[in-house]
Amino acid sequence: MIKKIKKVLRKVLEKFGLMKPYVPSTQQDYFMQGYEVFLKTGQTPHNANMANINLYCSTNGVFNEAFNDRLKQSNPPQIIKDTLEGVAGVFTKNDFDKVNNEMNEKGYVHFDKKLSQEVCESIYNYAMQKAAVIPPAYDKKIIYNPEAPLAEIYRFDIQDLVNNKEIQQLMMDPVLINFARNYLGCEPIFDFPAMWWSTSFQKEASSEAAQLYHFDMDRVKWLKVFFYINDVTLDNGPHCYIEGSHKVGAKPAILLERGYARIPDTDLEPYYSPDTIKVVCGEAGSIFIGDTKCWHKGTPLKKGHRLVLELEYTSSLFIANYPKMIVHNASDAFKEFCNTHQTFASNIEIK
Ligand SMILES: [Fe+2]
Repeated sequence: MIKKIKKVLRKVLEKFGLMKPYVPSTQQDYFMQGYEVFLKTGQTPHNANMANINLYCSTNGVFNEAFNDRLKQSNPPQIIKDTLEGVAGVFTKNDFDKVNNEMNEKGYVHFDKKLSQEVCESIYNYAMQKAAVIPPAYDKKIIYNPEAPLAEIYRFDIQDLVNNKEIQQLMMDPVLINFARNYLGCEPIFDFPAMWWSTSFQKEASSEAAQLYHFDMDRVKWLKVFFYINDVTLDNGPHCYIEGSHKVGAKPAILLERGYARIPDTDLEPYYSPDTIKVVCGEAGSIFIGDTKCWHKGTPLKKGHRLVLELEYTSSLFIANYPKMIVHNASDAFKEFCNTHQTFASNIEIK
């Protein structure tokens, strides 16, 4: 099986002229051996995680996309022809195809429909009362006080978030799941929810708060869904990304040589036309999806704060070793959904 995968990958890499000298075979070996370990134990060795990044950088994404093609074969997607309704709106098969084409082309898609005011208020109030961890140690939970922020970012605990019924409802949203299904080309696994306050504690770009351009690489392929829970303007840290930079071959090789690095704007700007550099402002409830292989960052806040909720769907739990999400507080609907959608719930345990 592994030999077969290697052979296919070699062919793809050769086709793009990337087999030699850019792909050290040791990296492929670490990756493939790590995948074997993952299949047996559910855990990815550190060197396979590093190899995923190195192979992404050395092949400009060819390797990772080709490997996802293999993952798709072992986890084929359900065929959905129905019109589906969810928080982002009502989508026919044709609408889904348009969204997916836009994802492939641009890396992000924005929706007109927003989360209801009621849902935003409920999540906002939850975030005002729930303690979150702050840098540099992220070891103590503190409730965010807007009058006296103590850090540029307050991150909520995944285990807390997954026990919030409002968030459980969003995780099961059939439209969001179908966006992931189409983009990943397989039955999506729910990876994790994330939520954080960005604050104006520090006015300069913070690496901790991901305020310098970077790409994510915790998985082979993934889709993120973003919700702005409060209004986001140019003053309170809009999300920025470079349209189309998720595509295979779309990053300058000279920047990829830096590896998994944070890149100053001035180093990226010469390579991309200004109209591809997108700044996402939006009212509370705004919804957008994205492939954060695109160069992306948050902007340092001039004032106020920003609350973002994010859901991630993935094609495989290979690469990052995130703990299983333990749900003690599942709604009946969420319990039922996890029981009947085992791929979705691969990393969720209902107590
Ligand atoms: Fe990121």
